[in-house]
Amino acid sequence: MTGPPLALGVLVSGRGSNLAAILDQIKAGRLAAQVRVVISDQPNAPALRLAADQAIPALAIQRRSFANQESFEARVAAELEQRGVELVVLAGFMRLIGPTLIDRFPGRIINVHPALLPSFPGLAAQQQALAHGVKISGCTVHFVNEVMDGGRIIAQTAVPLLEGDTVESLSARILAEEHQLLPLVIGRLAEQIRAEQVSEDGSSQG
Ligand code: GRF
Repeated sequence: MTGPPLALGVLVSGRGSNLAAILDQIKAGRLAAQVRVVISDQPNAPALRLAADQAIPALAIQRRSFANQESFEARVAAELEQRGVELVVLAGFMRLIGPTLIDRFPGRIINVHPALLPSFPGLAAQQQALAHGVKISGCTVHFVNEVMDGGRIIAQTAVPLLEGDTVESLSARILAEEHQLLPLVIGRLAEQIRAEQVSEDGSSQG
């Protein structure tokens, strides 16, 4: 990839295993990106500690500290912009976002979801898959729009359901695939974004 590593802002609410997978790939030199900031709507999210332990700026921004959704999102957007974030990654961010944030990062916000969208959006996707008796589920990385888990799909990995699967066993197998897929997609988008910048520079010179 030509150009500097892609500047990421990662939004989290909990455990942070996808954040850890991104950081591992960066450390291993397999992902040309840099996590500039991790923001959580939950001050006790383990993901914040994980970031802080690696000297990555880690902020808690709670929705309830703001009068409305717009001012909450405006603050999140400002923190991301201040640090030059180029791609926003929702990695277990359990909150629907709206136009205030989306419009500040057009086409530059992605999310990972533990099902093959458009099946099973929203909460407890693995439980929904089990309850329906589907034979194949998986994970999806998609662009974020205002519809919950509704934006254009970028990539998916299928995970077969096994006899005797529980929510826990299925979730664990899907999660292992999320950890592969999300960094892979970020890497591809990084390539695309840098390539577009090179061609824009080229055409502005021509
Ligand atoms: C993942 O299953 C992700 O697909 C969903 O929330 C979970 C987050 O896990 N949106 P973690 O915090 O990355 O460990």
